[in-house]
Amino acid sequence: MTEPLPSIQVPALASSSLVGHTVVVTGAGGQLGGFLRPVLGAAGAGRVIGLDARAGAGVDGVVDITEASAVRSAIADAAPSVVIHAAAYTDVDGCERDPALAQAVNTDGSRHVAAAARDSGSYLVAVSTDFVFSGEGGAPYGEDATPAPRSVYGATKLAGEQAVLSADAGFAVARTAWLYGGPGKHFPRTVLAVVRDRGGMEVVDDEAGTPTFAGDLAAALVALAAARGGGIFHLVNAGRATRFSLARAVAEEAGLDPALVQPTTTAAFLAKYPLPAQRPADSTLANTRAAALGIHLPPWRDAVAAYVPQLAAEMGLPGRNGPTT
Ligand SMILES: NC(=O)c1ccc[n+]([C@@H]2O[C@H](COP(=O)([O-])OP(=O)(O)OC[C@H]3O[C@@H](n4cnc5c(N)ncnc54)[C@H](OP(=O)(O)O)[C@@H]3O)[C@@H](O)[C@H]2O)c1
Repeated sequence: MTEPLPSIQVPALASSSLVGHTVVVTGAGGQLGGFLRPVLGAAGAGRVIGLDARAGAGVDGVVDITEASAVRSAIADAAPSVVIHAAAYTDVDGCERDPALAQAVNTDGSRHVAAAARDSGSYLVAVSTDFVFSGEGGAPYGEDATPAPRSVYGATKLAGEQAVLSADAGFAVARTAWLYGGPGKHFPRTVLAVVRDRGGMEVVDDEAGTPTFAGDLAAALVALAAARGGGIFHLVNAGRATRFSLARAVAEEAGLDPALVQPTTTAAFLAKYPLPAQRPADSTLANTRAAALGIHLPPWRDAVAAYVPQLAAEMGLPGRNGPTT
């Protein structure tokens, strides 16, 4: 399968500080990691070294970020100019069940990556999450909004952010949200599988945020790294969606009847399917600081329209304009 290209261009490539340089990507085998390598290649990076906890596609070195010395050696050996830290324990309910592992990976792991990047003289951008916000008022959240996580995942990611920014004030934290894309499990793939296999589904219409195509995020991260932006940035596709509006858009772009997706409430959903982690009710983010650098991601609805037809074809669904021959 060929992944669609991100729908944004990486600006100012000619003057990019990435051309010919070495970039280390942690979490290289994950959803975002799978998009970073081709985007970095297109931006002219000389060498991309992918690290992850397990061997697999796109992984050049197996490194557990909970082990400080292993991280230090891997990054010192690579001698990168830029480190993009995408490794995390991203199972939000799993984090609730195993907070020690969440802290080890999301907080301590980020501290280890930040120390290793600083000691090797590299610039670091670490990826974080909208789950640092409570979602109980104040959305859309700008970069200066006060975090108040309601989950172990959000709290351990926030502590990871603080470890990164205290290692070097020139490092960046890039918060994103509702990521999808690539061959693994993600929300649009789940929606299409459930609607196809069960003939319909109910999706909550009172949880709002900013769905983000991982290819668009990869391009924005590379642009941020080229600009050596420092501090906190929000990098999400533009606009605001509910889980329900996203699911309907996905069904529509896959050529399915959108009415097969029906709205429900979080309370009704949780009564049927209890989940340990609390999700923010509205964690919509505003990309204020990235926009000031000229980094703009497309509207979330356009990103869904660009990506889902390919996902639909992969899953044997017709797509909005019927099957392609
Ligand atoms: N997915 C979302 O909706 C979302 C939303 C907001 C923010 N984010 C953030 O975006 C970033 C990328 O997320 P993603 O969706 O690409 O996540 P992902 O697909 O889960 O990828 C994360 C990668 O990190 C690896 N990893 C986990 N523990 C590790 C360890 N101890 N040492 C080294 N690597 C380890 C994972 O390996 P295993 O698969 O083997 O565990 C996985 O390959 C993360 O920082 C995440 O917090 C994601």
